[in-house]
Amino acid sequence: MVLPIYTYGQPILRQRAPEVGGDSLELQRLIDDMIETMHVAAGVGLAAPQVGEPLRLFVIDLSASAEDIREENGGVLPDWARGAQVLINPEVVPEVGTEVSFEEGCLSMPDLREDVLRPDVVHLKYLDRRFQPHSFGAQGYLARVVQHELDHLDGVLFTDRISPIRKRLLQRRLRRMADGDVEADYPLFPPRAPR
Ligand code: NI
Repeated sequence: MVLPIYTYGQPILRQRAPEVGGDSLELQRLIDDMIETMHVAAGVGLAAPQVGEPLRLFVIDLSASAEDIREENGGVLPDWARGAQVLINPEVVPEVGTEVSFEEGCLSMPDLREDVLRPDVVHLKYLDRRFQPHSFGAQGYLARVVQHELDHLDGVLFTDRISPIRKRLLQRRLRRMADGDVEADYPLFPPRAPR
């Protein structure tokens, strides 16, 4: 089932989400729905709070960039780049001193793209949807996406991380978005007429 994506201004996007306690049918259904929603919205990542669920869980799918990722990894396509991945109770430890700038967008803020400075290398630890633990170093696109999604679990949006000047320039647009002046070609919460 495709879930509506909560837009900028919704309080749940500003809350720190609690850890996932354990497996359940509801959790597995939520994961399936999040993957379907991410695909319909053509996103590379979606965090549970973005669909109104306060849980430390996000899904990513970097397969659209498989060719670039293969190149970044010496001609080998890593497992995490093969279709949708589920990250439960993730921990991301950034490597200080490796910051790079990269243009980010967010399904909760349609049509907004800004350069964001983040570490290019992180250490990543999480449980997959079978609650199997994974732990490895990540860099480049994967490191970028997991840091953006992890921020969602802590109530942080990428617009919090842009330069003060850019932030001031976006002020009015963000306020309009919070007031409901936002549209997308996927379902939103609060509901909007489809484009
Ligand atoms: Ni986002």
